[in-house]
Amino acid sequence: MNLTVIDHPLARHYLTVLRNKKTDPQQFRAAAKGLTYTLVMEATKRLPLRHFEIETPMETTTGYSVDDVVAVPVLRAGLGMLDAVLETIPNVKVGFAGVARNEETAMPQEYYSKLPDLSDAFVLICEPMLATGGSLSWAVDKVKSSGAKSITALCVVTAPDGIKRMYEDHPDVHIVAAAYDRELNENFYIVPGLGDMGDRLFGTL
Ligand code: URA
Repeated sequence: MNLTVIDHPLARHYLTVLRNKKTDPQQFRAAAKGLTYTLVMEATKRLPLRHFEIETPMETTTGYSVDDVVAVPVLRAGLGMLDAVLETIPNVKVGFAGVARNEETAMPQEYYSKLPDLSDAFVLICEPMLATGGSLSWAVDKVKSSGAKSITALCVVTAPDGIKRMYEDHPDVHIVAAAYDRELNENFYIVPGLGDMGDRLFGTL
């Protein structure tokens, strides 16, 4: 399976802050950012580099540059991961993918998208809660239709249904997450999970 669950003390610390129902939105946003740094470090291990010659004050040597990363936060909860991505990845561009669940059909429904050409990009989709997998699978379809071939998803918490769905729909996508939780409840929330990520980030509970 194309899933990496990171096992880093900082990730465990920040995930605990996110899971705790007493965490207020400001602390929650800070912990989401801290956790995302650790996810980015894992996800970018495979990043392609451009090689070129540079002059140090002493002699010529090989330099490296990260050039073609596009982050795509899935609105709105993915915005909670964006600052950490912007602060750590040089020259990163940002596309947006807005999706909501259609209450009648339960299918993902697009309400906004703005993506650059992704043919040569290393695409990092920020989708914190991989529950049923519907939104992430839709977002991957979307970036593939803009040419993306190299796609990694950054998730805070994943659940078995979402991983299964992604494995069936998009086995080529690498998923980097901080947790693989037990199951979904009857309302499709992850348990133990952390509740509604968007509401907790933005104080709309
Ligand atoms: N989205 C969330 O914000 N939380 C869940 O548990 C599942 C989907």
